[in-house]
Amino acid sequence: MRTATPRRYLMCPPAHFRVTYSINPWMDPTKPVDPALALFQWEDLRDRYRALGHTVELLDPVPDLPDMVFAANGATVVDGKVLGARFANPEREAEAPAHLAWFRSNGFPDPREPVHINEAEGDFAVTSTWILAGQGFRSSPLSHSEAQEFFGRPVIGLELTDPRYYHLDTALAVLDDARDEIMYYPGAFSPGSRAVLARLFPDALLATDRDAAALGLNAVSDGRNVLLPRTAGGLLGPLRERGFEPVPVDMSELHKAGGSVKCCTQELRPPAP
Ligand code: ARG
Repeated sequence: MRTATPRRYLMCPPAHFRVTYSINPWMDPTKPVDPALALFQWEDLRDRYRALGHTVELLDPVPDLPDMVFAANGATVVDGKVLGARFANPEREAEAPAHLAWFRSNGFPDPREPVHINEAEGDFAVTSTWILAGQGFRSSPLSHSEAQEFFGRPVIGLELTDPRYYHLDTALAVLDDARDEIMYYPGAFSPGSRAVLARLFPDALLATDRDAAALGLNAVSDGRNVLLPRTAGGLLGPLRERGFEPVPVDMSELHKAGGSVKCCTQELRPPAP
């Protein structure tokens, strides 16, 4: 039997969500998005977290930052320490100071402004032992040593090679952080990084092409409940077999920007007791 632990998340309502530019292969500015439906789907995700007993904090959306709904990219919080983001694309640059300002006025007086490009939890996945860190499309490999030094946790660099899986969190999800359990899509990684993952996580749940392409790895787990896009139906059985409770959600409008459940959810990890 799996146990959930209460979490604290930071989310940003998709008030200004649109696809007006293209910085990943999912984004087609000629395809319309339905802002009302995006808001409805986002509210459903927020309400599910709250119904599961988690705390959801809210970040004010900023006009002209249509990707700001993807709050996971704005900062990484481990042991109550905040490492800000530095975005790879100019279109998203201004999201980073908005996150820093939120932290400063919400009990995190001293967030660290990073030197190197890192798109926060888009590329950093945190387990109790490691921080897994994506590189290849967005975050600089130099940000890995920066994160290791700042958090004092070992950072494992992983090379992403498929442009559809441009952030680590589109190809890998932490299922049980306390026990270092993950699921991932091997096809998104270089051969060397695949070997590293196989060595560190021999029992990982491996996703198929189809579930990865449905953004099924862009999932959030509290140790028991795994919220994931409902289009990734192939993951439900394997998750249940491992004792997890999959919670499928419809995030179709957000998928048009290349983001889903995890992208909308930044975890605020408390200091060690
Ligand atoms: N359109 C956004 C971008 O390309 C999507 C970000 C999704 N966020 C994530 N954590 N993968 O930056």
